[in-house]
Amino acid sequence: MTDHPSAYLSRAIYEQLGPGGLAARTSDSWDRETVQRVMDVVSAGQRVLDAGCGYGRIAIPLASAGIEVVGLDVCRAMLDEAAQQARESQVNISWVMGDLCALPFDDHAFDVVLCLWLTFHEVLREDEQLAVLTEMRRVLKPGGIALIDGPPYDTKSEAERRQEDPQQAHGMERADAAYRRLLAAAGVDDFQLYTDDCPGRPRMFLKFRVPTTENGARQATVPDRST
Ligand SMILES: C[S@@+](CC[C@H](N)C(=O)[O-])C[C@H]1O[C@@H](n2cnc3c(N)ncnc32)[C@H](O)[C@@H]1O
Repeated sequence: MTDHPSAYLSRAIYEQLGPGGLAARTSDSWDRETVQRVMDVVSAGQRVLDAGCGYGRIAIPLASAGIEVVGLDVCRAMLDEAAQQARESQVNISWVMGDLCALPFDDHAFDVVLCLWLTFHEVLREDEQLAVLTEMRRVLKPGGIALIDGPPYDTKSEAERRQEDPQQAHGMERADAAYRRLLAAAGVDDFQLYTDDCPGRPRMFLKFRVPTTENGARQATVPDRST
């Protein structure tokens, strides 16, 4: 697997944090709420990719509900823990080592693709973010749905945000306009972008649907930031 820069960085961070460190940063109520929101877009019999699945926080409850799930992550320690928890829960899930920017799956392989918590926002460069959206779109079946969640967006510039919080780990410009620019470059027209309250955590949600007439992957170019 050839690493994109963000994948290389994320692997190093998550190997060090470990599944226990990640699990300590969530809560049962938030996990339940997230699973519920995912179930709202998934139907029985569908095939779901959990892209950046971590230790299986969402993939395992989905599989327990009878959904066919594939979990992909760049961090071996996360996948090993996910596989262990799946065995304990007696569910069958395929765990795949890979990078969001170059998904190792055929075109149109999934009905739903998830990219949850901070996963999308840990992809730092705009060309990589565009690659992720383009890849999610490519592996979705016609009519398929992608669901991304992350920190709420606002109208502050990245420079203003860094001034307020110099420790901020992720580099994504989290402005409404930035998402819209990326979506346009990835050829995504049918989307919903909104913030919503989850227990104790206001979240941004980005949901998009691939046209039912989709035939093949589309070329995307890095958007011009000046427009
Ligand atoms: C904040 S955790 C979220 C895990 C999971 N999505 C959840 O909701 O519980 C981010 C996960 O994404 C993975 N990740 C980050 N960048 C990635 C990349 N470029 N490709 C694949 N996985 C990545 C990390 O290894 C980590 O397990």
